[in-house]
Amino acid sequence: MEPIIKAIDVQYCTLQCPDLDIQEQFLIHFGMHTVEKSEDTLLMRGEGPQPFIEKCIRGDKKFISAAFIAASMDDLKKLSESEDFSDIEELTTPGGGFVTRAKDPDGIGVEVVFGIEERPDYSEISPYPTNEGTNVNRVNQIKRYPKGSYPKIIRFAHYGINSKDISKAMDWYKKHLGVIPSDKLWAGDSKDSNTPLMGCFSRLDRGKEPADHHTIFWLDANAQSEGIPGLNHVSFEMLNIDDVFMGHEIMQQKKEEFNYELEWGVGSHYQGSQIFDYWRSPFKQTHEHQTDGDLLDNTIPCNDINMIENTGGMPGDAPGPSQWGPPINLGTFGDKRGI
Ligand SMILES: [Fe+2]
Repeated sequence: MEPIIKAIDVQYCTLQCPDLDIQEQFLIHFGMHTVEKSEDTLLMRGEGPQPFIEKCIRGDKKFISAAFIAASMDDLKKLSESEDFSDIEELTTPGGGFVTRAKDPDGIGVEVVFGIEERPDYSEISPYPTNEGTNVNRVNQIKRYPKGSYPKIIRFAHYGINSKDISKAMDWYKKHLGVIPSDKLWAGDSKDSNTPLMGCFSRLDRGKEPADHHTIFWLDANAQSEGIPGLNHVSFEMLNIDDVFMGHEIMQQKKEEFNYELEWGVGSHYQGSQIFDYWRSPFKQTHEHQTDGDLLDNTIPCNDINMIENTGGMPGDAPGPSQWGPPINLGTFGDKRGI
């Protein structure tokens, strides 16, 4: 069955946090800039054209929603006329635009937006070209980063959700937004109908246009968060690998004074191949820096991965959490309850 629409990207995430001053400081150290701050709402941006990429609402710690982008106003209307989505509303946040809202089967909020304008002060920044072996792109150009400079975030790129029923969630996002699976993680042989599905990396169907390997990563809430659905992490694409490592250095310097916690990194993922680094905010809401991920068009079929034998899913890959990098900290996914 054809999906109602095919979303083309994600725009921002919305989190609820007990203290917006603490959250603002964390996000500045993480690499964002303050756009607007009131008693109840905080908007933060990166270096990209989006007027904001993280919205924080004052309240008990909670993940509220992620915002997907529709390809047209007609698509937004189509979705708003479907059973699960609300009437279209005009957004009053910077950049304007329109939104329709729903709740997914786990009770996680989903926004779909159209018509948000670029921030007026946007000017594109480019990473230094890389020299890698015979792939020479930088000649007569010296690479320098000011010591202690904050890492550059390009965009909100994906998020992870602990789900009560991954298959049910996948069906819902496929039907409404055209989300397709990239890699399914099985605790054994996927051909055995008793094998539990532990995770699924899913991407947007942009036809022949490349899409991030995953826009949503579902994990099994029973394994991660005592059966309670909620946020696993929000992830932000960095300008390049230097920004991931500079971010790591800054967060290491600040962690004791500001109560940040390194969850996992720096390392290289199997699924998606990103160079990653995960940090927990003082409210234990995990934020990821990542760069250099795989891009796939819609011709690549889903990979069923037996995590017991081979986590990467490619010949010669070993079982384990990453291609390289430190082990996951004990309790990495252990206190995600109710986020
Ligand atoms: Fe991630």
